Amino acid sequence: MASLLTATVVAGGLPIVPYLWPAPPKGQKKGKVKIQLTKSINQLANGDAVKFDAPKNPNSAFIMADGGGDNAAGDLAFGGFAVKDEQGKVHVLAINCSHLGCSIALNETDKTFDCPCHGSRFHLDGTVRHGPASAPLSNLTWEQDNSDPSTIDIEGIVLGF
Ligand code: FES
Repeated sequence: MASLLTATVVAGGLPIVPYLWPAPPKGQKKGKVKIQLTKSINQLANGDAVKFDAPKNPNSAFIMADGGGDNAAGDLAFGGFAVKDEQGKVHVLAINCSHLGCSIALNETDKTFDCPCHGSRFHLDGTVRHGPASAPLSNLTWEQDNSDPSTIDIEGIVLGF
């Protein structure tokens, strides 16, 4: 009777094992994602920004280095901006608004990043200029490619699907 009960419990419990110890997602790999900018960092004037998107083939994303509001370190971003702020400091920012995650857009006239969803606005260094967002934009970890000045390598992940 005991062995029958044990066999029943084991057989009944086996289907939940994959949920307790899920296999790593197939094909996912963290690493640098190479991005070709439309204008190299060296050519950006103070107040300039260029948008970039994560590669689709293979399907990739960037990993946020920090966060606040709706964004958190480790969250994924599928686009961003390389920007030289008014003081000449370079920032590489995730495209996700820190309020609820909509994609921000560059306002060339005012030199701000504006969110079309609820009107948040950010300075070019990613800090909040106008709510409802209360946290700055997330930074991406990046470095300039040694061989090509218009290419940057950003911390990311190949999603493999
Ligand atoms: S998602 Fe950007 S202001 Fe709400």
